[in-house]
Amino acid sequence: MKVVKVKNNEQLSISARDIIMDVVHSYDKPILGLATGSTPEKTYRFLVEKYMSGEISFKDVTSFNLDEYVGLAPTNPFSYRHYMNKHLFGKVNMKQENIHIPDGLAEDLETECKRFEQTIKDVGPIHLQVLGVGLNGHIGFNEPGTPFDSRTHVAQLTESTREVNSRFFDSIDEVPKEALTMGIGTIMEAEQIVLLVQGDHKKDILKQIINGEVSEDVPATVLQNHPHAVVITDIDL
Ligand code: F6R
Repeated sequence: MKVVKVKNNEQLSISARDIIMDVVHSYDKPILGLATGSTPEKTYRFLVEKYMSGEISFKDVTSFNLDEYVGLAPTNPFSYRHYMNKHLFGKVNMKQENIHIPDGLAEDLETECKRFEQTIKDVGPIHLQVLGVGLNGHIGFNEPGTPFDSRTHVAQLTESTREVNSRFFDSIDEVPKEALTMGIGTIMEAEQIVLLVQGDHKKDILKQIINGEVSEDVPATVLQNHPHAVVITDIDL
């Protein structure tokens, strides 16, 4: 696992943007795996700027998002679909039919997970998966204890994750208890992975990810086993 240390969030976002641009320019039909959350916000902003200046087109890009809350409609401002529309999809020339996010409103969630997983199999492999990490080491919504060979599934959010994510909601009571998420096995099939770790509050988890024992107790440690995983961080170790 390669670790790239940058000065600050600005540099982290520029590095992530450039990796994404490289992939988009390297394939006729690039396939991106995307994350939400605070960490990639600036990366998306910088990508939009490059789109506006004509340096990148999303015309032929297909995307798969990692996860979505159960029970939130795409129009709900707290849904990940809404986040992606706001920060990227609504501002670039992505084709609607090439955007894939698990449907948290699906009547049958298990079937929806199978459908999402099958679509990745049919269209994929994902060329580049962008990841953030939770304080407890989760990637996507794969909380500690999730098997490394898991596929897209319904995940129960831990109380700590609900608490951390409540900053995006009006109150913790509004944070859903379940989400649909790509599994760890699904994520590991991406050809290349870039993990963005921003902010000193993530120092402990970053240390475990880089030097800790590979263990299902800390999901992101699985990335040590990926042949093309890069960690970009602004944290001094
Ligand atoms: C989001 C996701 C999560 C976040 C993680 C870090 O789609 O899959 O795993 O990447 O919770 O979130 P932030 O960036 O808000 O610290």
